[in-house]
Amino acid sequence: MTVEYDKDLSRHNTFGLKVSCACYVEFGSEDELRKIYGAAGEFGFPQPFLHIGSGSNLLFTRDFPGTVFHSAIRFVRPLDSKEKRPGEDDVILVEVGSGVLWDDFCAWCADRGLWGPENLSGIPGEVGSAAVQNIGAYGVEVKDIVKEVRCLDVVTGEIRILPAKECRYGYRDSIFKDTAKGRYVVTSVVFMLSSTPAPRLEYGHVREAVEKVCGPVPVPASQGNSCSPGPDTQSETEWPEALTPGLVRGTVIGIRDSKLPDPSVTGNAGSFFKNPVVPKSSYSIVENYAKGRYGEGYSVPHFDMGSGFIKIPAAWLIEQCGWKGYLEGNVGVYEKQPLVIVNVTGKAVPDEIIALENKIVHSVSEKFGITLHPEVEHV
Ligand code: EPU
Repeated sequence: MTVEYDKDLSRHNTFGLKVSCACYVEFGSEDELRKIYGAAGEFGFPQPFLHIGSGSNLLFTRDFPGTVFHSAIRFVRPLDSKEKRPGEDDVILVEVGSGVLWDDFCAWCADRGLWGPENLSGIPGEVGSAAVQNIGAYGVEVKDIVKEVRCLDVVTGEIRILPAKECRYGYRDSIFKDTAKGRYVVTSVVFMLSSTPAPRLEYGHVREAVEKVCGPVPVPASQGNSCSPGPDTQSETEWPEALTPGLVRGTVIGIRDSKLPDPSVTGNAGSFFKNPVVPKSSYSIVENYAKGRYGEGYSVPHFDMGSGFIKIPAAWLIEQCGWKGYLEGNVGVYEKQPLVIVNVTGKAVPDEIIALENKIVHSVSEKFGITLHPEVEHV
């Protein structure tokens, strides 16, 4: 265990904000973590406690008065087939420590030809926070491949294994962020991988980019529709030889790099807001606005969630309000993806980001009557 007092957190939040915490502790095992909670009084670490990964989805609104914990539990362990349950014969189970960099795990899978996390390649952060936040990109969410999450229950001091179902995953949401916030500290995650191709290419231009390299790719049965039913089973499908998890990973990283700022160059925390899910009546207001502005033939980008709800890209709403590429002092709205707030000069202070956030929320609400909610966690 390493302990540092009055620690500068600039390198522990991808916004690059110069904030500090009273104490910073890195633990390398479940035993160390148990000791921290079992003997909090003995160690005397200042309260409150906060667990972070790479700080890639965090906005420190001020210096943190308590102790920031970080997992250095780093291992990738394929599980013995005996640990598989019936019906999971095709699934390769791999347990990964919470402190492993998420993209290192994606690369590990791609290097071994294993399908699962390839669409989530390039996302900053670590495995533990990926499971807390239910990271998602290019049509996949991490919940799709999580089998179970191992954590310390800080109330009972026991290690618990939560099956994915008990994590109650939703869009960028889980019990770890909601009803059980502060109760569990993730130590490892078991993922379900597959050596049989399981490409998910239907988001945006992913299919087009992949097919440029490997030629036409059949639509898997589970992703087919009435117009394109796809083959009956994945094993019957004739996949192009060049279609590998590595190809999809490389394609996704290429798309990300062309749209999202690199936090090691320009401070940011990815999408600052969630994409709002609104009732059809609210969507109609947006549609009327767009038709008035761009003509009857214009179609607002949206996704029908069923049950009368529509998801609208926050990026589109923010762009309509004129924020794309906006600069003010040390902060701005990224010119290629307005869902991302950036620390343009590297010298931003939390209040500048919060002021810009508030202005954006206010203007979208004024124009469309829709309230944007931050995706980035404010601490
Ligand atoms: N759009 C615009 N203007 C822009 C950019 C996008 O109007 O300048 C509209 C377009 O209609 C586009 C739509 O927004 O089709 C969606 O854009 P994009 O595919 O870039 O995705 P997003 O909804 O803005 C989400 C995730 C990202 C993830 C991408 C790709 C959220 C909050 N964000 O963004 O995740 O990489 O999809 O799957 O769900 C993150 O969570 O930090 C993150 C970057």
